[in-house]
Amino acid sequence: MNQSITIRKPDDWHLHLRDGAMLEGVLPHTSRHFHRAIIMPNLVPPVVTTAQATAYRERILAAKPKADFFDPLMSLYLTEETDPADVTAGFRSGLVTAVKLYPAGATTNSASGVKDVEKVIPVLEAMAEAGMVLCVHGEVTDPAVDIFDREAVFIDRVLAPLRERVPSLKIVMEHVTTKQGVDYVRSQEQNLAATLTTHHLIINRNAILAGGIKPHYYCLPVAKREEHRLALREAACSGDSRFFLGTDSAPHTDPNKECACGCAGIFTAPNTMSLLAHVFEQENALDRLEAFASLNGPAFYGLEPNSDTITLAKQAEPVSFPAKIHTGDGDVTVFDPMFPVHWAVQ
Ligand code: DOR
Ligand code: ZN
Repeated sequence: MNQSITIRKPDDWHLHLRDGAMLEGVLPHTSRHFHRAIIMPNLVPPVVTTAQATAYRERILAAKPKADFFDPLMSLYLTEETDPADVTAGFRSGLVTAVKLYPAGATTNSASGVKDVEKVIPVLEAMAEAGMVLCVHGEVTDPAVDIFDREAVFIDRVLAPLRERVPSLKIVMEHVTTKQGVDYVRSQEQNLAATLTTHHLIINRNAILAGGIKPHYYCLPVAKREEHRLALREAACSGDSRFFLGTDSAPHTDPNKECACGCAGIFTAPNTMSLLAHVFEQENALDRLEAFASLNGPAFYGLEPNSDTITLAKQAEPVSFPAKIHTGDGDVTVFDPMFPVHWAVQ
């Protein structure tokens, strides 16, 4: 068995790196395989201004292994107080690539997010004018809505009206987890794309809830039924340029996951590319892995694809990944796909 595939170096269009000791511990697992990543701004306190993003970018570059080339693409955390002029100046200077909309209360460190979209329309209009991308965590926070329905309801209640209000704004629906999300993206001709995570292509909700509660498979949006996972795989492997990789690799220490109120987030940075090769091979779509991981994302963001490459090779023996990585903040469990993986990044 000596199958191998060489693709342009991938980018991760949705990544959590955190800060401090955690940043130092997790960054090498991404910079090893990825050229660029959109860095999520949900730190405590959040990265709201261009000045904060500039300082955070410096901390990321300082934590990067010297031998790796890695270009962190910064996002700003949208609040109801965000200054449109700061956002567009940050974009025009090249320091800011995107803005992230978290509905207030939807997920980890989203308390400063948006309660009333009406209040951020001036920012969104300025972004549209400048050609900036809005990344959206697409879940409603209405406690009356079942957690498994929050993405589908978000499309009807928030995203579709927003698209009508500012049709020229480029939007990425982040970490789509439902057939409704896939169908909605497909129904829109322009200015809408979606990222898909590695783990949502692999697990359905049984991984979290069947045979005992498994906190390391809990993330937001929560994994859905099998029919949704199949729809996501179909979209990822279709070659449709509106779908691309955003791992949402989101490290939390084990004590913060394994407790009575565990954090949402799955850490996939170390094995993402191996797992994607596995998934695309299963779907007879290895020839489309490059589009998903390396071409569709830059095209939507108006950037050039990377010119360097990586090679994935299929091994006779399963590849082993560490069960945990050790960081200065504590251990972080690596996503376990629950099947042997034979693809290794050379
Ligand atoms: O599972 C998740 N973890 N989903 C998010 O939206 C946030 C992320 C985090 O920051 O841990
Ligand atoms: Zn995320």
